[in-house]
Amino acid sequence: MDPQLLRPLRNDALPLYLQLYDRYRQAIAAGKLQAGDRVPSVRGLASELGVARGTIEQAYQMLVSEGYLTPRGAAGTVVSPRLGAVASPPHPETASTPPQPVPHAQTVDGQVLPFQLGLPALDAFPRKTWARLGGRHLRQLDTMALASPDPAGHEPLRRAVATYLGISRGISCTHDQVFITAGYRGALELVCRTLLQPGDVGWFEDPGYLFARQFLQRAGMRLAPVPVDAEGLHVDIAQRRAPDARFAVVTPTHQSPTGVALSLPRRLELLEWAQRQRSWIIEDDYDSEFRYHGRPLPALKSLDREQRVLYTGTFSKVLFPGLRLAYLVVPPSQVAAFHDTVNHLPGAGSILPQATVADFMDQGHFVRHLRRMRALYAERRGYLVDALAREAGDWLQVQPQAGGIHVLAHLPLGEDDVPLAAAARAHGLAAEALSHWRLEPSPEAGLLLGFANFSSAADATAAVARLSAVKKGDGGN
Ligand SMILES: Cc1ncc(COP(=O)(O)O)c(C=O)c1O
Repeated sequence: MDPQLLRPLRNDALPLYLQLYDRYRQAIAAGKLQAGDRVPSVRGLASELGVARGTIEQAYQMLVSEGYLTPRGAAGTVVSPRLGAVASPPHPETASTPPQPVPHAQTVDGQVLPFQLGLPALDAFPRKTWARLGGRHLRQLDTMALASPDPAGHEPLRRAVATYLGISRGISCTHDQVFITAGYRGALELVCRTLLQPGDVGWFEDPGYLFARQFLQRAGMRLAPVPVDAEGLHVDIAQRRAPDARFAVVTPTHQSPTGVALSLPRRLELLEWAQRQRSWIIEDDYDSEFRYHGRPLPALKSLDREQRVLYTGTFSKVLFPGLRLAYLVVPPSQVAAFHDTVNHLPGAGSILPQATVADFMDQGHFVRHLRRMRALYAERRGYLVDALAREAGDWLQVQPQAGGIHVLAHLPLGEDDVPLAAAARAHGLAAEALSHWRLEPSPEAGLLLGFANFSSAADATAAVARLSAVKKGDGGN
């Protein structure tokens, strides 16, 4: 039993039964009480807390009527089996979890902070072409664009995505299977609403993409952390820890944030597990386009004969995150169910940006832009890796990564990355602590450092020198 629940109730303005009700909600939301856990009997808890039985009964009745608890007769009362670890967000006034990083890139006075993650090279975006294509759509708005958009997304964009995935990612799908969403989390929302239930268990890479983790936990999913090694997600350990999981979230091309690729044997093992369990794999292929050594790896989806993979991609890295456009490819057998879901949701927003992206792809600008960005990022990555070796080689060790637009640099074993990242942030540097991306504590600490917006070697050197000064305690200015 969580000892917090047995603390004496306060003698303040809030009635005792409401204090108790709040405690239970928070314990369930924080995962301290899990679905199926038995709660103390009314009599036992009343005597433990020194309050009338009626107080406990009143609190339990509220929790039952709101679906938090389920009475099981002689077997006692349990936390509802359909609730996940996070049944509802914690009560705002009493939330005690430390602040978590928020999923948007910060700018100061319109400038991107050095090392900012998740942002492509904003200075290299082809604004003129974009403005021309967007302007044409604005001027020539046809009746279709003025009417209600298809909640599955603008059809020309869905067709352009299906064609692109066939050529570039080895994925064979029709536009009917493609759903345009408001960012990756929009895709996760569709999957949660269509195929999953609150309380479902899912494998989650550890370390793994922080903002997907936060989203899924808030949606009531229970995440089983699965370690990642040099071959990616450890499928073996996952099968031992949570063999009956309903879903697995993976970043097979460049694991987020370590950058390793999921090996072929592990890919096959993962697909086999999903097929056997009738579970779902959510493939997050967020930046497969940027690879600097060897050929881009095909998507896991390209091996998915049994149709267990829900494939997602985003325009946030290849165009810009402000667009808020991503896509989800669903198996043919699930197309109708996903249509039913999107028909009751707000959709991916205005048709205009979707139509602009469709033209950008259809007219060849997209492929040209990717080619240019690949070369540019290889150069900018070199600026950062060289600067780290020169200016911070005595305390940071860069983990070689074949792709992506950030690097992971390890701190010596036993050092704490959280205060260092906080100090860096206080000095205007957007380095992130690897520990924030973990579900389970680990002695391995490191910093995640974005490089896409370093436009020269001198910029990268200056930023790394500031970071070194922060680390060595003499400030970074
Ligand atoms: C691992 C990972 N997945 C997905 C995304 C895309 O998220 P969104 O489409 O919500 O911008 C990102 C963006 O930074 C990411 O790092």
